[in-house]
Amino acid sequence: MEPKNPAPEGATSVLLKEEKIFIPPHEFIRDTNVYAWMLRHGIKDEEQLRAWADEDPQRFWAEMLKEVDLSIEGYSSVLDWNPPYAKYFPGAKYNIVLDAVDRHKSRDKVAFYWQGEPTSDQGIPGEEKSLTYAELYREVNRFANTLKILGIKKGDRVGIYLPMILQLPVAMLACAKIGAVHSVVFSGLSALSLRERLNHAEAKAVITCDGFYRRGKIVKLKEQVDEALLDVPTVRHVVVYRRLSEEVLPLRDIRWYPGDPAYPRERKDYWWDDLTEKTREFLPQIGLDADECETEILDVEDPLYILYTSGTTGKPKGVVHVHGGYALGTSLTLKWVFDIKENDIWWCTADIGWVTGHSYIVYAPLILGVSSVIYEGAPEWPDPGRFWSIVQKYRVTVFYTSPTAIRFFMKFGEQWPKKYDLSSIRLLGSVGEPINPEAWKWYYEHIGRGKCQIMDTWWQTETGNFIISPLPITPLKPGSATKPLPGCKADIYDEKGDPVQPGAGGYLVITQPWPGMLRGLYKAPERYAEGYWWKYLNIYLTGDLARRDKDGYFWLQGRADDVLNVAGHRIGNSEIESALVTHPSVAEAAVIGMPHEIKGQCIVAFVTVRHGEQSNPSLVKDLIRHVEKEIGKIARPEAIHFVPDLPKTRSGKIMRRIIRKIAMGEDTGDVATLANPEAVSSLKETLEEKGK
Ligand code: WTA
Repeated sequence: MEPKNPAPEGATSVLLKEEKIFIPPHEFIRDTNVYAWMLRHGIKDEEQLRAWADEDPQRFWAEMLKEVDLSIEGYSSVLDWNPPYAKYFPGAKYNIVLDAVDRHKSRDKVAFYWQGEPTSDQGIPGEEKSLTYAELYREVNRFANTLKILGIKKGDRVGIYLPMILQLPVAMLACAKIGAVHSVVFSGLSALSLRERLNHAEAKAVITCDGFYRRGKIVKLKEQVDEALLDVPTVRHVVVYRRLSEEVLPLRDIRWYPGDPAYPRERKDYWWDDLTEKTREFLPQIGLDADECETEILDVEDPLYILYTSGTTGKPKGVVHVHGGYALGTSLTLKWVFDIKENDIWWCTADIGWVTGHSYIVYAPLILGVSSVIYEGAPEWPDPGRFWSIVQKYRVTVFYTSPTAIRFFMKFGEQWPKKYDLSSIRLLGSVGEPINPEAWKWYYEHIGRGKCQIMDTWWQTETGNFIISPLPITPLKPGSATKPLPGCKADIYDEKGDPVQPGAGGYLVITQPWPGMLRGLYKAPERYAEGYWWKYLNIYLTGDLARRDKDGYFWLQGRADDVLNVAGHRIGNSEIESALVTHPSVAEAAVIGMPHEIKGQCIVAFVTVRHGEQSNPSLVKDLIRHVEKEIGKIARPEAIHFVPDLPKTRSGKIMRRIIRKIAMGEDTGDVATLANPEAVSSLKETLEEKGK
């Protein structure tokens, strides 16, 4: 069987032609964290480091606990591997908050610099804040006490639906502190997506805010929560942070519960500030300090969070991460790959609503005690220089973004970064999708001023932390994520499970467990075992395609399965199709990914309408709105084509692969075995008609 949805051929050959190697200068290497560790341990180069880790992975990970100085102690062994389930440091008692928050409680160092989207020329003052480690400790404690007052206990699930404001990390850490399991839902997802996730997680409470700014407009987030909660019986409490002001969103325009008979009577809304204030008044009356909340000491393998992500079929799956191994995996990779040191200013531009933000805005940077930047808004607001103005303002030293963002900035031209002083940047990173060499070079020249190495980090929600990535000491080839990190073993298999030869492509797999790996899918053990571990028994299947070159470098080629990567966002083809077919005019739908200059891929839908329905431009708009309502703007189709029929197999399965070939103008091969070969010609005609 050939891999489904292979990467565009053009992209592959461009990647493979790129030969130039970027070797980091010795003076730079000498000062890196990883090199310092190697020197102390008598290891002379990267290959020797990998070999040392491979020789005894358990010894390596135990040693790495010391490198990031975690308070995981008293474990009986490093790994208990009962495929497909891993336990790291079993027997230890732990809570990630001990290392991310508590141990820094007396430090005046800034944990987060926060920048709101509006600029002062829009007349909105006070749009920047900072939070020191000592303040973060206090805020987390206060909010943890508040959650306890609401009756949230260890093991309870709490939904968090917040934009990029400081209350988001505070809420996550407060949950973790009391042993509750947070489930953050990206604030760009729709009310219906939120509902689905809250129901699946059986969340007891939701933490949200009134609204926030995006591209100069206001997004009224609480309205979405209200809509979601029309059908989530488990949620009792809604805590709402007041992000906006009376001038932009008056209180009288915010609905408040109880009060509406449509809602379960148990549901109650609270303002974040009121509730924490009341908690602070109340606790001293029973002899407790409201600014102190004891960190719940958990089993090292207790769940920290559930984060939903898209799969090949069905509803999004709830990836579960735990306190212990995740703390090690995330903090070590940040310390070694991005070489984080005491004086760095770290900016990861991802949204905290996705795994990149969980791991590399919240947990790892806090464990390392670094100062980070959080920006609320859009990269081009109010103009395409916004990111660079933030870099200049905070003197960002290590900058991490996505290829989509880079291609987007390329489009506006280098005059934007040129206006700002970017000389503080010493190291760059990329994540979320393959980076094409053109974008790599633009990033290197115009943001890195030809001086900064680029860490192209490959990983997934499931892996918790980087798996394939350069170290700052690694010679780079633009477009390649280089090799698996020390302690991680990845390979590329052919259909039978044999490693492919240099130059050939195949399925990317991870061949041994690692501390930051997912511990399963929430309430879906079969899906976990089957989806990741059965194709090659007890080998982790990533779902990506890759090639390896003669030097052993990995070149990522996109997904092997029916999952799209649009602007670095992961969306299942089937999710969008399911959304489309819930529209009353739609009979059937097929969704494919097409190459897109900036977003990497874009969504194109093929739809047949129900008998008696008319396809027309207003239906296109209606369907787009419908998908946005069902999933969110990130799933918005770029184009919708109405066709008389969709090519299907005799068993009735829609052949996306053939549709994609037709849309790409490629040869479809023999289609005679289809149930309806004539659908192929009618599809071609529709597209030709449109192309005219
Ligand atoms: C893709 C995001 C190429 C890949 C951290 C993976 C990448 C999916 C890279 C996971 C990269 C991520 N080069 N492709 N550096 N990083 N991907 O779960 O297809 O949102 O399987 O995690 O993004 O997406 P997820």
